[in-house]
Amino acid sequence: MISNQLTNKRVLLGVTGGIAAYKSAEICRRLQDEGAEVRTAMTAAAQEFITPLTLQALSKNPVHLDLLDPETESAMGHIELARWADLILIAPASANFISRLAQGRGDDLLTAICLAADCKVAIAPAMNRSMWEKEVTQKNLAQTKSVGISVFAPGEGEQACGETGVGRLLDVPDIILLACELFETGVLSGKKVVVTAGPTREAIDPIRYISNHSSGKQGYAIAEAAAEAGANVVLISGPTNLPKPDRAQLIKVESAGQMLDAVLDQVPGTDVFISVAAVADFKTKLTAPNKIKKNVNGNLTIELSRTPDILSEVTKIKGNHLFTVGFAAETENLLENANSKLKEKKLDMIVANDVSDSEIGFNSDLNEATVLTPKTSINLPKANKTQLARNLIEIISEQLAGFGTDARARS
Ligand code: CTP
Repeated sequence: MISNQLTNKRVLLGVTGGIAAYKSAEICRRLQDEGAEVRTAMTAAAQEFITPLTLQALSKNPVHLDLLDPETESAMGHIELARWADLILIAPASANFISRLAQGRGDDLLTAICLAADCKVAIAPAMNRSMWEKEVTQKNLAQTKSVGISVFAPGEGEQACGETGVGRLLDVPDIILLACELFETGVLSGKKVVVTAGPTREAIDPIRYISNHSSGKQGYAIAEAAAEAGANVVLISGPTNLPKPDRAQLIKVESAGQMLDAVLDQVPGTDVFISVAAVADFKTKLTAPNKIKKNVNGNLTIELSRTPDILSEVTKIKGNHLFTVGFAAETENLLENANSKLKEKKLDMIVANDVSDSEIGFNSDLNEATVLTPKTSINLPKANKTQLARNLIEIISEQLAGFGTDARARS
């Protein structure tokens, strides 16, 4: 059964030489099914049993083969690969590889990656039963375990060499299960979360626009925190100067209209929609096709019209499965205004934010908020936006636990 327990996890699958190497293709696919991003590395001997092309096609990434290949090392070298991975899984791991791992060697790509790793490392041994039973193999295994490497012990049964005993590569579903167990389940594991962030820009003419002071910092921090919690995150952002959050899909937009289209595109399959963007409420009724010149008729009057209310459009079509969270940016009557928006926009939760206080306002790194639901009010004390985002994601996940049943009861 798919648990999505590896959502957002990066797994480097290392393949060593042995007949079970052909099973690495299946391992790669099943890791992906659990939500993992997979890269692969092979020893020279592994390439005698399965072609790099197979793993390249399945992982959709080049296969890493050589320690001393300047081309691959300059693209993503052994140190970068070790830093990239959350888990290095060597499956199958041959007796020879385990012996070299136990010695702390670093004279080929896969051993060098393991030596450089600070992340979780696991091996799934596969070998002939006599090789498995040898004292030296068991000593090597004990040594690898003693340095914190997990060993997914082999199964018993008929072996490719025709003998019967312990040494077969563990069945693929069991390897995947053990890999999943190395990670705690994130509170939003497998959920799709869409976040809007930043300001929008409404064009006046080709070079001018109406916008606001939103920096996007809080929305980006929420996208990061949701990804950290195991969610598949789509961040739909107006123009900001911020780097793309790690492990979130970023869709860049400019205007409220474009943001609405991008959001509506994403709604199917979404579990949580968090509308943090400071969407412009007005746009020019007509956008001038050319630069407006200052020597027209003295003063200039621009007629404005309302932009779509993205959040309300979403709650109109959302059905019972989508949990919606709004932000109320207020300069006065914070809780009263936030409560009205909660009701009017038919939200499941709103985060009331006092933007008149410059210490916690649009461009600051700090924030403080009150989270309101139809039944509860929770204060999020002043903290940096990253911490506040994590606290908010925790609250959303708690609310989400009872949400399906509550929503069905309400309808
Ligand atoms: N919002 C939206 N689309 C808009 C305006 C706002 O989706 N055109 C969302 C914001 O992302 C936020 C919530 O609605 O989650 C409240 O936004 P806010 O600017 O506080 O309030 P408004 O609804 O714009 O109302 P007002 O300007 O009167 O305070």
